[in-house]
Parts: sequence; structure tokens; C-alpha cells
Amino acid sequence: MNSILITGASAGFGLATANLFLERGWRVIAGMRTPRNDLLPASDRLQVVALDVTDPQSIQAAVEQAGPIDVLVNNAGIGWMNAVEGTSPETARGLFETNMFGPMALMQAVLPQMRARRSGVIVNVSSSVTLKPLPLLSAYTASKAALNALTEVSALELEPFGIKVRIVLPGRAPTTGFGDTARAKIHAQGGFPEPYLPVVKAVMDAWASESEAEVTQAIDVAEAVWQAATDPASPLRIPAGADALALAG
Ligand SMILES: NC(=O)c1ccc[n+]([C@@H]2O[C@H](COP(=O)([O-])OP(=O)(O)OC[C@H]3O[C@@H](n4cnc5c(N)ncnc54)[C@H](OP(=O)(O)O)[C@@H]3O)[C@@H](O)[C@H]2O)c1
Repeated sequence: MNSILITGASAGFGLATANLFLERGWRVIAGMRTPRNDLLPASDRLQVVALDVTDPQSIQAAVEQAGPIDVLVNNAGIGWMNAVEGTSPETARGLFETNMFGPMALMQAVLPQMRARRSGVIVNVSSSVTLKPLPLLSAYTASKAALNALTEVSALELEPFGIKVRIVLPGRAPTTGFGDTARAKIHAQGGFPEPYLPVVKAVMDAWASESEAEVTQAIDVAEAVWQAATDPASPLRIPAGADALALAG
């Protein structure tokens, strides 16, 4: 039976991906910062493990508990929206800790077993903002662009070992909790610098005018991860969602 370890499986894209792979008969190891057994359907193929991607001990313990895995999905991530001037160094470093160093540490933890078996797939969940720059997303985009670079280069060095590496690029998904979490953090840190308020309004107005058909749903991302995990001919970069597909051309 194929097995998949998913980080950030408590909500949004990670939860949808865990559901999809469970439905399709896989063994699913669902990594959650706060483990909960009531989020996914009960199954003897489901293992919920405590996993904070910024904590090396938590990563080691989760990978040991998971046992052999065929696919790693680095989905856990945090958002942030502000001007460069409105982004503290601590906030920027925090984005990189979760969005770039976390996935890299997870890769380092699972690669020895994948190399030994000469097989495996690593799927890193990035963002369509790396396809087209948007104002006020500089630090977040930088963290995801770094993840893209890490993934693209590692794809070359892992190819001789039979290990495939993929980037899933979701578009904007207002239905997950991602925006709310980021918004709460922005307000907690004092909001946007006053001179940038017209830019904030322009971005918000553009988002408000988008219809449901033009954004990304969690199931789009789960299906893109499915393609990355199961189709050996899938491209390195897989856009997910109507808006991401439009941007990718
Ligand atoms: N939603 C969007 O518009 C969008 C667009 C493009 C890309 N993405 C990317 O897609 C991924 C998932 O986003 P989403 O929309 O599903 O967001 P979400 O609903 O906010 O879920 C994020 C998940 O990541 C987890 N997480 C955060 N920090 C973590 C850490 N240090 N260790 C382990 N887990 C952690 C959260 O766990 P807790 O429950 O413990 O907080 C949650 O399970 C992220 O990488 C995000 O950058 C999102």
C-alpha cells in the first residue's frame, strides 16, 4: 500500500489532500501541530502525528513514527501581507522558517530512506504569487520563490536516485483559513503603514471583484498533489486552481 506524509493536515489544502488520498486507498500520515483525531474519517490507514515543521525534534519524531513513506507533501505554510516597510525582520524570518526551512528539514529527514529504496516523491506546495508578482506580498513571495529554487535544484540532484520532486502552485483560495490567519497577524502587528493604504485598497478591491470561478478550491490542490504523487510524467511545476492555471498560461 502506498503511503503519504502530509504536513499541515489540520486544515485547508492539507486536510483536503489527506481526505483525497484516504478515499483512494492510501496509507495517510497526517502531520498536525496540534494532533486531532476528529478531523479525518476514522480508518486503519490513517495515522495522525504531532508535527511542527519549525521544530527539528518534532520532525525527527514524526518521521520515525511514520515509518517508510512513498510521498512527502510539504504543505504547511503561513501567509503575510504588508509592504517591505511594514514587515519586521522577525516576521520575514518566521515566514522563511515555516515556508522554506521547514520543507527543507522535512526533505532531509525523509531522503535517506527514499535514496536507500531508490524511489519516492516530494511535493512542495508553493504559490501562484511566484508566477506573477503582487504588491504587498514581497516577504511571502520571497519565501515561496526560495522554496521553488530549492525544489528545482534538488530535482536535478535527486533524479539519479529515482526520487521525483514536484512544485504545486495553488492560486488564491479565500475559502481556507489562510487569509484569516494572516489578517489576524497583520492587525496584531499594527496593520499597514499609512502611506500604503491606497495600495492596500487597490489589492483588496481587485480580490473582491473576483468570482468563485476565478479562484482556487482546496480540492484543486488535492488533485494537483494526486497528479504529482501518481503520474511519473507530471511536470515539475503543477498549477492548481482556475486562477493559477490562467497565470501559468
Ligand atoms: N490559501 C491560499 O490562498 C494559498 C494560496 C497559495 C498557496 N498557499 C499555500 O498552501 C499551503 C496551505 O495553505 P492553506 O490555504 O491550506 O492554509 P491554512 O488553511 O491556513 O492551513 C495551513 C496549515 O499549515 C499548518 N501550519 C502552519 N504552521 C505550521 C508549522 N510550523 N508546523 C506545522 N504545520 C503548520 C496549519 O496548522 P495549524 O492548524 O496548527 O495552524 C494548517 O494545518 C501553505 O503552504 C500556503 O502558503 C495558500
